[in-house]
Amino acid sequence: MYQSQKLAIRYLVAAFALFGVMIAAGLLAAAFYLEPGLLFDKLNFSTVKILHIDTLVVWNLMGFFGAVYWFLPQEVEREVVGIRLANVMFWVLCAAFLVVAAVFALVQTGPTRDSTLWLINQGRKYVEAPRWAAIGILCVVAVFMFNIVATAVKARRMSGVLGVLIVDLVPLFVLYLDAFPSETNMAKDMYWWWWLVHLWVEATWEVLIACIMAWTLMRLLDTPRRIVETWLYITIGLVMGSGILGLGHHYYWIGTPKYWFDLGGFFSALEPLPLIGMVVHAVYDAGVHRMRCSNRPALYWMFAEAFGNFFGAGVFGFMMTLPQINLFTHGTQWTVSHGHFAWWGAYVCGLISIVYVVLAQARDARQVDGPLWKWAFALLNLGIVGMVGGLLIAGMAQAFYERALGGSTLQSFITAQGSSWFVEGMWVRAAFGVMFALGYVLLVVDLARVGRRAAAPELRAAGVGA
Ligand code: HEM
Ligand code: HEM
Ligand SMILES: [Fe+2]
Repeated sequence: MYQSQKLAIRYLVAAFALFGVMIAAGLLAAAFYLEPGLLFDKLNFSTVKILHIDTLVVWNLMGFFGAVYWFLPQEVEREVVGIRLANVMFWVLCAAFLVVAAVFALVQTGPTRDSTLWLINQGRKYVEAPRWAAIGILCVVAVFMFNIVATAVKARRMSGVLGVLIVDLVPLFVLYLDAFPSETNMAKDMYWWWWLVHLWVEATWEVLIACIMAWTLMRLLDTPRRIVETWLYITIGLVMGSGILGLGHHYYWIGTPKYWFDLGGFFSALEPLPLIGMVVHAVYDAGVHRMRCSNRPALYWMFAEAFGNFFGAGVFGFMMTLPQINLFTHGTQWTVSHGHFAWWGAYVCGLISIVYVVLAQARDARQVDGPLWKWAFALLNLGIVGMVGGLLIAGMAQAFYERALGGSTLQSFITAQGSSWFVEGMWVRAAFGVMFALGYVLLVVDLARVGRRAAAPELRAAGVGA
């Protein structure tokens, strides 16, 4: 095994551990909706939510890094250049995460001084880490980029997938600079912040996961490189064509010029197209191989990724992307419903598929199957769909009572939050959240057993330990 692949395993283990932290924080945040006085004066909802969504971003990034460090040496058939530095950076990232999480949990808020930006929180939703840690993250990404580019140069190998990946790393790095606030005008500030959030999840990350899934597909179903690369180019063309100006669907109500209504409405309505392409591709690949595959969990999670991305991002995003509808749904639990479904489908399912492929290779497992992954698969997917449903109902109650009937006043906001549809929606979300958490526990147990449980019958058959 290459050194880079050992680092990959470390990254993936850390990522899936943080996935657990994220779920715990999510459950606690959900409990605040049911019992608003919870932990009064000790821990506030905003901090718990920050922990939830920042952990999400960090563990997804760690998962992507892990996947790339795993597949890259196989792609170029040599060790990754600068792997020692990459190892150091892994520990830097873990240490920074722990310190930041402790500061979030124990200190929570600071005075309105620059020192708060440096030491406690930069106030950027999804990337709230204080400035020192954000600089650390930039260094980690810079080393990651160096590793990939230097390895490709040294190996004198450039495949289509690798080329796309390298080009994509540039916006991944540059957009993160948006995590550093410099603007005091609120409208301008939001204008730029959306470049980070929207262009990461609806462009840069989509390309990144498409590259990683391309490598995964070649291993999972022996799909020829020619086919995955052709699909990769089509997806990227469509993602870029719709996603960049689709940014406009966040510009309706923040003080930007009116032409964003048309631009945002039109281009973001096209955004589901590349996602349909992914579904077609996945079904086509599996059909060609008659669903035969030695790693069924990875195959099913890849399907979940294709369908989840299409429904969560494409359908649920499309539902509220036109300004005429967004006027009523903006910033309600409807948005949260889409956020959960889309992120789940676009990134988490893909990362789970990848980790099954990596573990099967790492542990030399010829066959990955068994009952446990199916339980995890069912509980996690039912859990998320149930949460998404509860949130959608709560969001609809807000859109009707608060926006359409109440005219968006503070009083109508409070009335909507007290409506039985909203309250029950929050209970449904919490209940399905518990189901989701159970699914996570089974997933981790199953991942730990990949390759190990298959060995037992083989050994018995060979008469060892009988
Ligand atoms: C590709 C994966 C996607 C992910 C991970 C994702 C995730 C999210 C998240 C987390 C938010 C909430 C942002 C916030 O206010 O904190 C959001 C908002 C939004 N998304 Fe997506 N999204 C994706 C794709 C799409 C697509 C394809 C569309 C349209 C077709 C779309 C339309 C929207 C709209 C209109 C909002 C703003 C909602 C509001 O006004 O409150 N998204 N998305
Ligand atoms: C046990 C499971 C989970 C529970 C109980 C949970 C709960 C929550 C809660 C209470 C919030 C705050 C919403 C608000 O501000 O009103 C939230 C936000 C969020 N969660 Fe989760 N979550 C869970 C799992 C997940 C997963 C698996 C993902 C990603 C795939 C995710 C992604 C997000 C995102 C993107 C937001 C921000 C959405 C927005 O502000 O529009 N969560 N979650
Ligand atoms: Fe967006």
